[in-house]
Amino acid sequence: MCFHIKQPETKEEFKRYYHLRWTLLRAPWNQAEGSEIDAMEDKCIHFIAIDESNNVFGVARLQFNSNTEAQIRYMAVEKTYERRGIGRALSNAIETQAKKSCRNKIILDAREPAVGFYKKLGYNVIEKSYLLFDEIQHFRMEKTLI
Ligand SMILES: CC(C)(COP(=O)(O)OP(=O)(O)OC[C@H]1O[C@@H](n2cnc3c(N)ncnc32)[C@H](O)[C@@H]1OP(=O)(O)O)[C@@H](O)C(=O)NCCC(=O)NCCS
Repeated sequence: MCFHIKQPETKEEFKRYYHLRWTLLRAPWNQAEGSEIDAMEDKCIHFIAIDESNNVFGVARLQFNSNTEAQIRYMAVEKTYERRGIGRALSNAIETQAKKSCRNKIILDAREPAVGFYKKLGYNVIEKSYLLFDEIQHFRMEKTLI
């Protein structure tokens, strides 16, 4: 399959970006559309996995926490396209951008089923973090960028 990673630019790309984020990370827990957006969107860098027909099937957000630390949030890949390297490609794009922006550490809170994925990418578990929607356990993970 053919896809590339880019930052959404058009209104339509942003619409697809947020819609996929909601579909994969909020709708299954009966959260209303709009709940996938937070107050930091304008300060973050957004990435999509998109094909030549403009189908968006992967999303992720790079957030800056300080002058040294970045954070991955809202990473998700459409179920039928999992295990094809899209999550890795999104993470690579985020890490490259974080390094360009002079951050030397990336942290994230991984949903329990995604911990193995992030371990594959070199992230280490630091501690158990929060429980989302009373059921999704998260784990704080981090990676030093070199
Ligand atoms: C977690 C997620 C983003 C991974 O995306 P993906 O496109 O399937 O991942 P990739 O295909 O790029 O996988 C990269 C590597 O991690 C491995 N991997 C992927 N998912 C894994 C998992 N759940 N557990 C263990 N390993 C995993 C792959 O086998 C691959 O290993 P390889 O390079 O040795 O072949 C995707 O499964 C997803 O969106 N899950 C639901 C939403 C979610 O939990 N998001 C994270 C929120 S914190």
